[in-house]
Amino acid sequence: MNPDLRPLAEASASEPWYQPAGNEVELFEQCHAHQLAVMLKGPTGCGKTRFVEHMAWRLGRPLITIACHDDLAASDLIGRYLIQHDGTVWQDGPLTRAVRQGAICYLDEVVEARQDTVVVLHALTDHRRILPIDKTGENLQAAPGFQLVVSYNPGYQRMLKDLKPSTRQRFVAMDLDFPAAEHEANIVRHESGVDHATATGLVSLALRIRQLKDRGLSEVPSTRLLIAAATLSTCGIGLREACYAAIVSPLSDEPSMIDALRDLVDGTFI
Ligand SMILES: Nc1ncnc2c1ncn2[C@@H]1O[C@H](COP(=O)(O)OP(=O)(O)OP(=O)(O)O)[C@@H](O)[C@H]1O
Ligand SMILES: [Mg+2]
Repeated sequence: MNPDLRPLAEASASEPWYQPAGNEVELFEQCHAHQLAVMLKGPTGCGKTRFVEHMAWRLGRPLITIACHDDLAASDLIGRYLIQHDGTVWQDGPLTRAVRQGAICYLDEVVEARQDTVVVLHALTDHRRILPIDKTGENLQAAPGFQLVVSYNPGYQRMLKDLKPSTRQRFVAMDLDFPAAEHEANIVRHESGVDHATATGLVSLALRIRQLKDRGLSEVPSTRLLIAAATLSTCGIGLREACYAAIVSPLSDEPSMIDALRDLVDGTFI
């Protein structure tokens, strides 16, 4: 499609609800105001995506999200010429659209991307704020509201050290983690509609399971899993069954670990 005909991404109309854990909202606002790129670090399901959605809404900026993977080429970010019956036409990639529109561009799981792809971010994340588009010869100056946000999950195989220091040191890093118990219960209640007692019970179950980390359990339950169990329980599925399906099974295939986790569920919801 001709990029001129492509609809602009719009800022979200309704607020994506976000429960802050500390001063991350203020910190992000200052980064945005001073055109600093942000790196969000935190385990899966702890609220990174929701936080960015909320901040884009708060700042009135469109949000363009790109899921990174090791096949992602620079042209997937920047754009390419498409062949049409009457010649070739340039099509902006999502990063280029974000730069033109002054959007927040969120690169999810940035360490999955190849180094030669990540390097295209360099001139955008220093004082130049430029995206060089080699194929068109354009040096695109980022519109004022443009901000780059990347996320990184420290638990995964690929590590932050896989990013070059010259890339890492272009970001203000913010550590997000699972929220404190009362905040997490509030999130579970808000997102699923369960009552306070159920939400608190699910969080205390999660806290117990999280203590098994590295004692036979490689992954711990995220806030997302608690919300899934809570949601099932609001649809007529018994709470224990909901926990087996939404929390226990996704975490382990190992029979003895599954038994231990089911015991914890049964002990929490007698
Ligand atoms: N602080 C929070 N405020 C509101 N909702 C939250 C918060 N933290 C987690 N959630 C809820 O948990 C769900 C999972 O969070 P989210 O998708 O943002 O995690 P993530 O850190 O981006 O995970 P991943 O690394 O797997 O992409 C959200 O859809 C939301 O319902
Ligand atoms: Mg996410």
